[in-house]
Amino acid sequence: MSYLYIKNANELLTIKGFSNSPATKKQMNSLSVIQNGAILIKDDEILAVDETTKLEEAYAAEIAKAKVIDAKGKVVAPGLVDPHTHLVFAGSRENEYNMRLQGASYMKIMEEGGGIHATTRATRKASFEVMYKQSLRRLNQFVEHGVTTVEAKSGYGMDWDVEKRQLEVAHQLNQDHPLDIVHTFMGAHVIPQEYKEKPDEFVDLVCHEMIPKVADSGLAEFNDVFCERGVYTPEQSRKILEAGKAHGLLPKIHADEIEPYEGAELAAEVGAVSADHLLRVSDRGLDMMAEKGVVAVLLPGTAFFLMTDAADGRKAIDAGVPVALSTDCNPGSSPSVSMPFMINLASLKMGMTPAESITAATINAAHAIKRGDKVGSLESGKKADVVIWDIPNYMQFTYHYGVNHTETVVKNGKVIFSKSGHNE
Ligand code: NIG
Ligand code: FE
Repeated sequence: MSYLYIKNANELLTIKGFSNSPATKKQMNSLSVIQNGAILIKDDEILAVDETTKLEEAYAAEIAKAKVIDAKGKVVAPGLVDPHTHLVFAGSRENEYNMRLQGASYMKIMEEGGGIHATTRATRKASFEVMYKQSLRRLNQFVEHGVTTVEAKSGYGMDWDVEKRQLEVAHQLNQDHPLDIVHTFMGAHVIPQEYKEKPDEFVDLVCHEMIPKVADSGLAEFNDVFCERGVYTPEQSRKILEAGKAHGLLPKIHADEIEPYEGAELAAEVGAVSADHLLRVSDRGLDMMAEKGVVAVLLPGTAFFLMTDAADGRKAIDAGVPVALSTDCNPGSSPSVSMPFMINLASLKMGMTPAESITAATINAAHAIKRGDKVGSLESGKKADVVIWDIPNYMQFTYHYGVNHTETVVKNGKVIFSKSGHNE
């Protein structure tokens, strides 16, 4: 049995009360802050959270045995959750970035055989070891930015052997690395070039061959599709998501990113756990998502990197949709591992308050991957995933924009990263 005690936090953000369902509307603006807060951890679980003086009275015996971290002058918060990443891939696409800076469009590059197709070619050629090494590096960078749980999608194989290899790399990383990885199959990321003239054959292959194999192997929990004009139509997307559901895979969807395409409406109709992107979502789509409790995973880094207007986070929150944030970490539209930057962008570009942005990156992000009961808030009984930010109050998190304030990261009760040497 081991105890870890973090005390004297200038502010301790509990974000409590939303383990069963995500925060919506005004709830997103309340972080349930404890001034001069403390948290006591037993093994990998949170034992108690309270004001430092109260906790010291109530748990004197346990605290006497604990390793102690003094968070004086700092903020203690739940570990950040990234609910949408394309963690495992090979290669990079800075050449396309340069083309886009000179006016080329993301979709045009893809239509001409670049974009997702380029990463697919690189990933198909890459061995397990090469993919593992590149993804491990990204995973470590996530930790440095205060992230303790990430979702990871396949989708750069679009051929069973390679999709399987991507998912296996993510599983191996989940075993070897302290971070928790949640697995998503995304065989329908684009129409692979070899199926350009016969897209419905590929849809059938995904539905009738790949999805059953994913389900049998237990390699994924979620099933995702890129529903967009020129990629998968809403009807094809519906087939893919329904096929996944029939095999126990929970639906997620890349929706309404480039133009309105009724992706949000489809998400609500199929009972998706989340609909992601939503830069061009319709009002009806938002209302339907609110009604069904579909989490909106907004990806401000993607809008920033594609140099377009971000999703309207304010509108989504006011419509009653639970909003989450993510990096969308991928080689084409958002090669970033920085959830802190996404929180900055949400405040500065999406009309969200600092408190709403933090809620979106913690408890609501956890709900976007069905982990709201385990992570995303600091409450007794939950996983001991905690970050210490080197700022005196949470407002400074987005005020000092573009800065990584992460000082210490605790995962499952263990210090796994520290700028000031707590883990030495
Ligand atoms: O979420 N929109 C589709 N898929 C990814 C981009 C993948 C890529 O460009 O490699 C996204 O933005
Ligand atoms: Fe994505």
